[in-house]
Amino acid sequence: MTSSPAAATDGGARALAQRFVAEFGSAPEGAWAAPGRVNLIGEHTDYNEGLALPLGIRQRVLVLARRRHDRRLRLLSLESGQQELALSDIGPGRISGWAAYVAGAAWAAIEDGASATGLDLLIDSDVPMGAGLSSSAALECASLVAMAELWSLPRSRLELARLAQRAEVEVAGVPCGLMDQLASMCAQEGHALAIDFRSLSVEPVPLPLARAGLGLLVIDTRSPHQLAEGAYAERQAACHAAARALGLPSLRDANPGSLARLDPARPELVRRARHVVSENERVTQSLVVLRAAATDATRLAELGPLLSASHASLRDDFEVTVPRLDVAAEAAESAGALGARMVGGGFGGSVLALVPAERAAEVSSAVTAAYVERGWEAPRGFEALPGAGARRVL
Ligand code: GLA
Repeated sequence: MTSSPAAATDGGARALAQRFVAEFGSAPEGAWAAPGRVNLIGEHTDYNEGLALPLGIRQRVLVLARRRHDRRLRLLSLESGQQELALSDIGPGRISGWAAYVAGAAWAAIEDGASATGLDLLIDSDVPMGAGLSSSAALECASLVAMAELWSLPRSRLELARLAQRAEVEVAGVPCGLMDQLASMCAQEGHALAIDFRSLSVEPVPLPLARAGLGLLVIDTRSPHQLAEGAYAERQAACHAAARALGLPSLRDANPGSLARLDPARPELVRRARHVVSENERVTQSLVVLRAAATDATRLAELGPLLSASHASLRDDFEVTVPRLDVAAEAAESAGALGARMVGGGFGGSVLALVPAERAAEVSSAVTAAYVERGWEAPRGFEALPGAGARRVL
């Protein structure tokens, strides 16, 4: 994991303020943070008006900012380098690389009516990149909460999440639903978020991991996923085609019975739809478990089989796993995890395992051993702790 301890504390933000002065000549007006996320369960449901249970993690992107008198954005990322651009140069298809997420946030805010000024921005992140933990959504969300404040754009969390999603889809050109941005904007310490992507309601639900003696182990498989964007768009299209074939507004309205009406000559469409329908059901069941765990934390262990069933469905029906994800999930379970599943879009990224706290190290070593045995680069593991959503920290 590329971990920058500076980003992990608000003391870190103060230290970065010194760096800001050194780089830009005077103090920042503030510092804003937004977390990466892991999704407990509910994968590839967001763009089907379905259900999901993500949580913000402690790893986060920090953005320190100060307004400028011109209309230029000067960006300095401690991880990715430097870029300077004019606000008038930003637009769909015009910026690439990491800067597109920040510039895209600015573009979306301006499209929404912000009175933009130029900005100096210093960016630091300890969210592992390319690990399926939404480092890009965290960057968009941290940038947007900073811009919303500095550019006097009073917007709700949901509205800001939608602007962040526009940045990703329209300016960075990466297809996605709303889950990552909504999770980063709305996360609450110690909670998962029960999100309904039809009503767009977001309800924080306590996740009493410590009381249950459990931990969430994130295993970053460090596997490349270059083909992910095309495959993601293809999955979205298949889901929308399945809903259309059923005459439904979205797969949210489908049930196991209605799936029988899909043309058996299109088995792939049937499998895609079956994943979405069964995943929504698993989220509903997980929510029942979380509610029961509020009074009896030991009930949290019941999430394990639901996580494993989600992985099997993503592997067999939605077909977005790769061998490194499958091997990590299987090795984690064999070593004592109560359940494990891939998180995020798939084709690489991370696996989330629910583990008895005392077995976390053992599970982690077992996954590493399984990788080494196959001649693969060792994965990186860390414990996910449910952290706070996007906010001002200085
Ligand atoms: C990516 C997208 C999300 C969501 C997940 C799959 O992370 O950005 O919107 O669709 O994949 O659940």
